[in-house]
Amino acid sequence: MQCDYFDDGACRSCTLMGQGYDAQLQDLQTLVARALSDRFPEHGWARPASGPESHFRNKAKLVVGGTRQSPTFGILDRGGQGVDLRDCGLYEPGLHETVRQLADFVTGVGLTPYDVPRRTGELKHLIVTHSPDGESMIRFVLRSPGQLGRIERALPDLRASIPGARVVSVNLLPEHKAALEGDEETFLTEEQTLPMHVNDIVLHLRPRSFFQTNTAVASQLYRQAQQWVSQLGPASVLDLFCGVGGFALHAATAPGTSTARMRGIEISPDAVASARLSATQLPQREALDDIQFTVGDATTALSSDTPDLVIVNPPRRGIGDLAGDLERSDVPHVLYSSCNVTSLATDLAAMQSFRVTRARLFDMFPQTGHHEVLLLLSR
Ligand SMILES: C[S@@+](CC[C@H](N)C(=O)[O-])C[C@H]1O[C@@H](n2cnc3c(N)ncnc32)[C@H](O)[C@@H]1O
Repeated sequence: MQCDYFDDGACRSCTLMGQGYDAQLQDLQTLVARALSDRFPEHGWARPASGPESHFRNKAKLVVGGTRQSPTFGILDRGGQGVDLRDCGLYEPGLHETVRQLADFVTGVGLTPYDVPRRTGELKHLIVTHSPDGESMIRFVLRSPGQLGRIERALPDLRASIPGARVVSVNLLPEHKAALEGDEETFLTEEQTLPMHVNDIVLHLRPRSFFQTNTAVASQLYRQAQQWVSQLGPASVLDLFCGVGGFALHAATAPGTSTARMRGIEISPDAVASARLSATQLPQREALDDIQFTVGDATTALSSDTPDLVIVNPPRRGIGDLAGDLERSDVPHVLYSSCNVTSLATDLAAMQSFRVTRARLFDMFPQTGHHEVLLLLSR
């Protein structure tokens, strides 16, 4: 992939930019396989799963800089000045179009960008998620409610220029700190969820819940998990760090698990609300009342009840003490999806009773060294 922003030195986020994609994938495979070679043979890995090497991101997180007359949408340089990246080649085509229209909207309405060095202005970030159906969730992150009314009044114009704008909200981040969003969200639209069709399941996203940024590769990840779960045929599954329920809902519809008991635990109440809604719309599922999603701390979730399978998909830091809890439990199988092979290796070191039986790399983040790895562990 070629990128003018990278070549000009404006953005260096894609550290592998310029390297051929096949070579990237091969290097990534070697890296993850070597990191786990004491637990699984390098030749035993399944073929890596990948998607397009460009135009794959479903989400844009744009820092707004510049001036009211000439705002920038992208990142800030070291001096806190805005760098415009609205034509980033990682965006899905529909997301790219939405970002361009949104940039014109912000300029036309005259919202004042937040000036980080001076601590003045209002509009800090734009966060846009685009669905496979061509709809989008658009979030304005403001320093104060001062410009909320202006956005609200201009909403008809926004919807006219971006017909797929299904969810529009304002998030307040009053503090001067390096965070993307704050705790308070005000919806400007009646719709509050963005449906994402992934395989034959609809995952409903709300503003403050995690979702994989590469829909095509996420579909393959969930499909693979579903196949492995189906082969195990567990009677009970506990999905920890379940987010909006991607793994649990795929497990719940895996052939052979239609009556299995499913439990999901997640710390974000918004994500749990989404997972519950998606569960009500599941196709081919006999026992819907046997799927429950609960807000809670996954790291302390292993109770005396021993599920046949525990799924974990933690943040980059890994599962911490939960690894020891799993080791001491009678849980026979663990499906571990990790975005950090270093913390994964540490967690596995605390789980010596488990054997890695299957492993596959999912290239969720082409042009970078980031990776997603799915392992099936059994005692
Ligand atoms: C990598 S995401 C995975 C989400 C989900 N499994 C998916 O497929 O999209 C990690 C999730 O863990 C949640 N999380 C972080 N710390 C947690 C904790 N201590 N207990 C429960 N959930 C937590 C985050 O809110 C986030 O949704």
